[in-house]
Amino acid sequence: MLNQNLHVKNDPAENFRKDVLEGLKSNPKRLSSKYFYDKKGDRLFQEIMAMPEYYLTKCELDIFKNKTAELAQLIIPENEPFDLIELGVGDAMKSTFLLQYLVEKEMDFTYMPIDISGNILSILKDKLSTQLPALQIIGLEGEYFEMLQKAASLSSRKKVILFLGSNIGNMSLEEAEDFCFNLNKNLSSGDVVLMGFDLKKNPQLILDAYNDKAGVTAAFNLNLLSRINRELNGNFKLDQFQHYETYDPESGACKSYLVSRMNQNVQIANENFVFEENELIDMEISQKFSAEKIRELGMKSGFKAIGEIKDSKKWFVDTAWQVK
Ligand SMILES: C[S@@+](CC[C@H](N)C(=O)[O-])C[C@H]1O[C@@H](n2cnc3c(N)ncnc32)[C@H](O)[C@@H]1O
Repeated sequence: MLNQNLHVKNDPAENFRKDVLEGLKSNPKRLSSKYFYDKKGDRLFQEIMAMPEYYLTKCELDIFKNKTAELAQLIIPENEPFDLIELGVGDAMKSTFLLQYLVEKEMDFTYMPIDISGNILSILKDKLSTQLPALQIIGLEGEYFEMLQKAASLSSRKKVILFLGSNIGNMSLEEAEDFCFNLNKNLSSGDVVLMGFDLKKNPQLILDAYNDKAGVTAAFNLNLLSRINRELNGNFKLDQFQHYETYDPESGACKSYLVSRMNQNVQIANENFVFEENELIDMEISQKFSAEKIRELGMKSGFKAIGEIKDSKKWFVDTAWQVK
């Protein structure tokens, strides 16, 4: 097994510092959810995926577990060598079913999982080396596009990109359009993308998935304040912030905020930040999509739609696009 991790970083600690300070100086204050995933954040996200309310993982698991052959046929119709690149891989719980199928079929491919969290990549590497010892894997720790370019420099084989879990929903619609456009530009004619989208559905189901009674989602959001305290010498008092979730069924935007419970000052990296009572920090968007919006997104970014697979409840869709 080719089993290595390439760490090509453009100073992640400095990027974190810059993004946090900039975000907290903006109006409204904001933090990027891509920083949720430190060691504790990775563990909390795995707890979120296991919660009964968090239907997204169960739906996409239904596709990967029960429609594996159909999925493989859609994204790899010919038996040619390829690189399977997964962006924002997390623990690869769903894609492992596809990997197993491809290994059993003796397909010639290298799996390249990409994630900004080195912690989750090393957990994944350990898991896959036990579960699928024949798998060729190169883990790439860093940002999506930087690592995609790194992957392209390692091999010129056909690329099949997985972008699952509705990670695309963690961008505003405008950012998602830019992301898909750039993805297209970073690939070659014939390359394929499989993207997971959470579909619009009963609004209460959506709100419940991000507003669990046990408070795991709240802890997940608050953990970013702990990370800032630890890594940027901050002094956030976590009990002085409250998690608040909204879902707007018209736009499809589900948003997580932290609300300051009082007037307070917070020091971070020797800078002072003033929070008024009830002031918000915009933490994360989890955009929900209509079929029309997905079609429009693919078309605007220059992809050709080649098929899609939905879960049995039709709550989630994995859409396949090809670079023209
Ligand atoms: C919501 S989790 C989903 C994981 C997986 N795709 C799934 O469906 O279960 C998002 C993952 O993407 C990673 N991530 C978020 N932003 C990223 C970025 N800009 N570059 C690379 N990885 C990123 C996080 O570290 C995390 O592991």
